[in-house]
Amino acid sequence: MIVLGIEATAHTFGAGVVESQARTAGAVDMRNTRVLCNEFDRYPSSADGFIPRKLADHHAKVALKVVRAALQKAGVGIRDVDAIAFSQGPGIGACLRIGYVCAKSLSTLNSKPLVPVNHTVAHVEVGKWACNCKDPLVVYVSGGNTQIAAKQKQDGKSYYRVLGETLDVGIGNFLDVVGRKINLSPPDAVGVMKTAQQYCRAQKGKPEYFELPYTVKGMNLAFSGLQTAVLRAHAQNACSVGQLCYSAQETAFAMLVEASERALCHTRKPQVLMVGGVAKNDRLREMYSLMCKEQQTRFEAVPFEYAGDQGAMIAVAGLKNILAKATNKSVEPTQDLRLDSQEITW
Ligand code: FE2
Repeated sequence: MIVLGIEATAHTFGAGVVESQARTAGAVDMRNTRVLCNEFDRYPSSADGFIPRKLADHHAKVALKVVRAALQKAGVGIRDVDAIAFSQGPGIGACLRIGYVCAKSLSTLNSKPLVPVNHTVAHVEVGKWACNCKDPLVVYVSGGNTQIAAKQKQDGKSYYRVLGETLDVGIGNFLDVVGRKINLSPPDAVGVMKTAQQYCRAQKGKPEYFELPYTVKGMNLAFSGLQTAVLRAHAQNACSVGQLCYSAQETAFAMLVEASERALCHTRKPQVLMVGGVAKNDRLREMYSLMCKEQQTRFEAVPFEYAGDQGAMIAVAGLKNILAKATNKSVEPTQDLRLDSQEITW
């Protein structure tokens, strides 16, 4: 079975192809699943942030090129593909529409089944597949999402229950805004991470913490007050940019680890799995490793190539949906899907 996955929820247009030895639906066995390619074209970060119309224009321009490159790299033709999966949501409406039109056109013209995929579930499933985790406590950290979740049963059905989440902005969004507003290079979360690392090296492993607000409410988090305090400290030259980036990361990550540790103690899941674009952050990985070591729990972070938005994760989740016969009647893009929107039948 060969599945083409198309991703277009925000800044990235991606196309990935996966191949599975499974031929029939009914048994979800992902052991013999291989990613054949994972092509993407990402709209670059800029000082202006992301403007939805510009993102959609970009995706419309690169869509065919990316899909062609993916099929060529995978060594398959569109006729060899058994199903076309696409990101149904959540995401930016204008971007979702481009991904949907692209997938729907390919599906109709080539008489292939169209498989809508919940983008947030795809982040989790690609992590579970790549890290060989069966039933982890999930920490999903990206630009728009910050959630701590675990699979739980309700009325005989399984869902990813969101145990804790951000009450305002996503952690990636918070870091991107800090990077952009204080003119880092690149002007985003990566700029914050690099500046914090340079500061720690310059301090020879003895960085000084600049006091910032810390907001954990049960297992929920809030980052907007922290964002305001960081930007105010920068405007007032209260400390160096390096110390500020270091302190912003330490505060936000400590909040996340504290809430996750609480969720882990409640659920006693055997693994902690971190997924999403912010899972690439070295310091965040280090902090989770320490916490999991203390809790004697296995920690896994999704590999870099499957952390940010890309098509392979949509193909992996699409394949799981097909094998589990989890068909969704509606294929229309839906901006407000959540991790807990879909029954998990695998
Ligand atoms: Fe994402």
